[in-house]
Amino acid sequence: MKRYEKFADEIAELIHTGVLAAGAKLPSVRHASRTYGVSPSTVFQAYYLLEDRGLIQARARSGYYVREQGPLPMPEPGPPSAQATEVGVSELVFSVLGSLKDPHTVPFGSAFPSPDLFPLPRLARSMAHALRHLSPHEVIADMTAGNADLRRQIALRYMVHGVMLPLEELVITNGALEALNLALQCVTQPGDLVAIESPTFYACLQVLERLQLKAVEIPVHPRTGIDLDQLAERLERMPIRACWFMSSLQNPLGASLDDDKKRALCQLLKRHQVPLIEDDVYAELYYGNQPPRPVKSFDDEGLVLHCSSFSKCLAPGYRVGWVAAGRYAERIAKLKLMTTLSPSVPAQAAIADYLQHGGYDRHLRRLRHALETQQGAMLASAARHFPAGTRVTQPTGGYFLWFEFPEQVDALVLFKLALAQGISLAPGPIFSASQGFGHCARLNHGHPWSAAHERAMDVLGRILHSF
Ligand SMILES: Cc1ncc(COP(=O)(O)O)c(C=O)c1O
Repeated sequence: MKRYEKFADEIAELIHTGVLAAGAKLPSVRHASRTYGVSPSTVFQAYYLLEDRGLIQARARSGYYVREQGPLPMPEPGPPSAQATEVGVSELVFSVLGSLKDPHTVPFGSAFPSPDLFPLPRLARSMAHALRHLSPHEVIADMTAGNADLRRQIALRYMVHGVMLPLEELVITNGALEALNLALQCVTQPGDLVAIESPTFYACLQVLERLQLKAVEIPVHPRTGIDLDQLAERLERMPIRACWFMSSLQNPLGASLDDDKKRALCQLLKRHQVPLIEDDVYAELYYGNQPPRPVKSFDDEGLVLHCSSFSKCLAPGYRVGWVAAGRYAERIAKLKLMTTLSPSVPAQAAIADYLQHGGYDRHLRRLRHALETQQGAMLASAARHFPAGTRVTQPTGGYFLWFEFPEQVDALVLFKLALAQGISLAPGPIFSASQGFGHCARLNHGHPWSAAHERAMDVLGRILHSF
């Protein structure tokens, strides 16, 4: 961490703990430089960074002040839905995803962070190195089981998070999405009921639609995650065959279950012998020092199929993911053989090499820091431009904010009007089997904050005020 970043973090801590109250004046650059023994340019850079994060603001000819504007409040959890729902959101999702193709669009609707935040040149070196050393035999052998080094590296990362994973449990897949598809297909038959989150990741809805499964939507609290009482009640009352949940940094809300709740979820599912498909693609993007534990770490029966990938934190286009499939591993491996056979062998070898030699943890630390800074910038900008009555989440990781706008806002109309002005966003209804969340939207802050982003927030604010 650079000196100015450290200095900025120290001031941020004083603001968060209330030592520096809203409206308080920060020491002048000269004064701060003398008092803290840092150069004036360090103070300047730290103040710019804090301004970017939305924590302080400059007043003309007066200096820097702790921002007065209170943060927007948190959204409320959505209402429970009593029955199972047939799913049919694909057309809407396709039209939203289609809107992201234009590179000139401000990508608030994107599902990925900026590619500039990934170490792509370093990965390319790993690809070249790995391919030079890949034996002709491995090119064929790795196709089914997956690259042995990669599997070992993934297992080592599980170990750090408290999961001792036998290598046979690991099936390497084409991104997490294939892992999730195979997992759900493995534990259900067409017509079965599956408990999912509400709101949920839209691809989850599409997988249910493709496999002709019915959704039982369980509300998610924006901070504490899935409502376990509701889930327990549904499990008693309905023949639910599987659950598909994100226990950490849920998409789109960013909610995370604490460890007690993760343990309780595991026990509840054990009692009912219902498998959990745990979608954990954002787990590496936590802010702070404490990595979240997966529900998988509480599972001693092999009931949890833990799915993840490198798409969100390292290499989106490489399409390398996996499932740690517990008691279902053998069936999943067979299903994969019957469908796509294998992810690309060179891509697996490149990532294995990178994990061993490329400085993955250093990259992740930088990435998390950038995402946290950008979150602050988007929150501050929303507080400046969006109408009163807007609510927003403040996740402890990842790169999504979930906005709940005043009731009269129609998110699908907002989506069209914003797109006409070159701004994409992900409207609430694509995250719901029953197409609820009509006045909500998910915005991506995974790109370095710029004047274009600030202008786009201003435009969105104007459209929102016009409803
Ligand atoms: C919650 C969630 N799960 C899974 C995926 C798919 O991951 P991958 O790109 O590795 O297939 C995404 C991508 O947007 C996601 O947001």
